[in-house]
Amino acid sequence: MKYVIINGSPRKKNTWKMVEQAKSNLDGDFEEIHLMAEQIHLCRGCFNCIMESEENCPHHDKVKSIVDKIYDADGIIIASPVYAMNVPALLKNFFDHTAYLYHRPEFFTKKALIIVSTAGAGHNDVAKYIDETLRHWGVNKCYKITYRCGGKDSIDEDNINKISQKFRKDVESGKFHSPKFSDIIFYNVWRAMALTEDPIEPDKKFWFDTGLVNHDFAPEVKLNPVKKAFAKLMFFVLKRVMK
Ligand SMILES: Cc1cc2nc3c(=O)[nH]c(=O)nc-3n(C[C@H](O)[C@H](O)[C@H](O)COP(=O)(O)O)c2cc1C
Repeated sequence: MKYVIINGSPRKKNTWKMVEQAKSNLDGDFEEIHLMAEQIHLCRGCFNCIMESEENCPHHDKVKSIVDKIYDADGIIIASPVYAMNVPALLKNFFDHTAYLYHRPEFFTKKALIIVSTAGAGHNDVAKYIDETLRHWGVNKCYKITYRCGGKDSIDEDNINKISQKFRKDVESGKFHSPKFSDIIFYNVWRAMALTEDPIEPDKKFWFDTGLVNHDFAPEVKLNPVKKAFAKLMFFVLKRVMK
């Protein structure tokens, strides 16, 4: 299996120690990305990635090399400390550069492990925010490991082992989890937007070129009859509301 690790901390310390422990439970090749070393300029808010193409982002080369590594990986590991009750600017800046993936989600067959460390607070909210971001990319399932370091120089090895082993089993299984209702809604929002009279052209191209426009949800991920009916209803309603 191939894993890509994205380190959102400017250093390799508390969160990284947790990553190393998680890695000891995984078998495969690891590609490490330290966002601090990548030196991606701040997102300029030019909208190019969304309105023209991600290739028109002024920082495309750097962003593409990371996104390509995510494409190549079976499992994604995102490591983040809590900074001012949120993710560090380094990680947020990377997420801002992937905003186009909300419109054009691609990672339906990927699973992720989110690792968050904090001194005292914010760890659950930060893990939840990363989970939400990844689900907007299409990611099938996110596992979460959080830890309050406080003044301690230790990690909760048992919890890290337990969750990272679950993550490993899931990645190796090649099976996919049923999406949440909210995932089905967002998928069908973007799918319906591609069919409006005045669509965002790269979105339209993506939904038609991939054929996803013809599917209730990404075809690799099966929907039970209730979720299938829900997806169809959502698409029907959204197409009429958006026009
Ligand atoms: C700029 C900065 C902001 C921080 N903000 C918070 C915070 O809001 N809440 C908190 O509990 N810890 C906060 N911390 C502590 C870190 O989350 C904690 O020490 C974390 O384990 C550092 O991870 P690292 O060693 O991987 O960088 C902050 C640390 C820094 C440097």
